[in-house]
Amino acid sequence: MFFDVIYRGYERLLTGEIRKHHTPDHIAVIMDGNRRYADRLGIIRHQGHTYGAKTTERVLDWCWELGVKQTTIYAFSTENFSRNEDERAAIFDIIKKKLDELLRDPRTHERRMRVRAIGETHLLPDDLQDAIKRVEDATCSYEGIYLNIAIAYGGQREILDAVLDMARKVRAGELRADDVDESIISEHLYTNGVAIPDVDLIIRTGGNIRTSNFLPWQANGSECAAYFCAPFWPEFRKIDFLRAIRVYQVREQERKRAASRRIVDLLAACGHAELEDVADHVRHAIGKRDMANGYGGAVRKSHVNQI
Ligand code: IPE
Ligand code: IPE
Ligand code: MG
Repeated sequence: MFFDVIYRGYERLLTGEIRKHHTPDHIAVIMDGNRRYADRLGIIRHQGHTYGAKTTERVLDWCWELGVKQTTIYAFSTENFSRNEDERAAIFDIIKKKLDELLRDPRTHERRMRVRAIGETHLLPDDLQDAIKRVEDATCSYEGIYLNIAIAYGGQREILDAVLDMARKVRAGELRADDVDESIISEHLYTNGVAIPDVDLIIRTGGNIRTSNFLPWQANGSECAAYFCAPFWPEFRKIDFLRAIRVYQVREQERKRAASRRIVDLLAACGHAELEDVADHVRHAIGKRDMANGYGGAVRKSHVNQI
């Protein structure tokens, strides 16, 4: 009882602090630790994944409350195909049920949430592929928020497929090799209709500090903010989520401070006569950034970095 009161107070405090600053547009989540959670409770392992799926539902509500536009969840990696058949079947069954629930859930439609799967979905069982298609078709006209489900997904494979696709187009004369840049590569990744934008924040639960082949391109290598935490996915609480958002905000503030420090250093390093040249350089860089705003986030980011 006492701890509940403190917890709710802390949650309100964090929420109030977070709302004063910019919140991430795109959060990606590695929902790890489901089997270890089940082991700790002494229950059957796939029950851990069932509890984990309930956490996913809560996290989608929290993202909605904070106005997060895109949420990408890691549901099943290409590496996970090496798990035993019973475990794979249990996980696929849970995902299928959750997709059907999403389809019926009024929140999906009220929020105009577009649901997309990214990955080598043709490798999945037919009934799961059908469930994916049902929810994708029902939400394909929505543009409110986006839920991207990385399933049968591997980041290296995604980049390889994009390269093979571009090579084929170059051979067919549909693409000039010289035109390939960040935005062209982004367009050739798994988009399922609309390009997946750069990730602002990756969250991983379960205590491991690695990103397990998840969105290497969209996370700009692993340059986006990252929050690794110990709780297993089924026990991930709202205060953990809010702390992750705070890590993103601190990171953004540091980035802005570093950019202004760089401009001050640059000005200090210039003599009076050279300042006009510097002003030209800055004007040019800002012009380039504004132009890049019409293209993909990857281009935008790299141009800002040049400033
Ligand atoms: C992550 O949880 C979800 C999937 C891989 C499907 P795990 O199943 O990896 O659970 P742990 O990390 O072994 O506890
Ligand atoms: C990452 O968890 C993949 C998913 C959450 C789907 P894993 O448990 O599969 O990752 P590793 O094996 O610890 O890298
Ligand atoms: Mg794991």
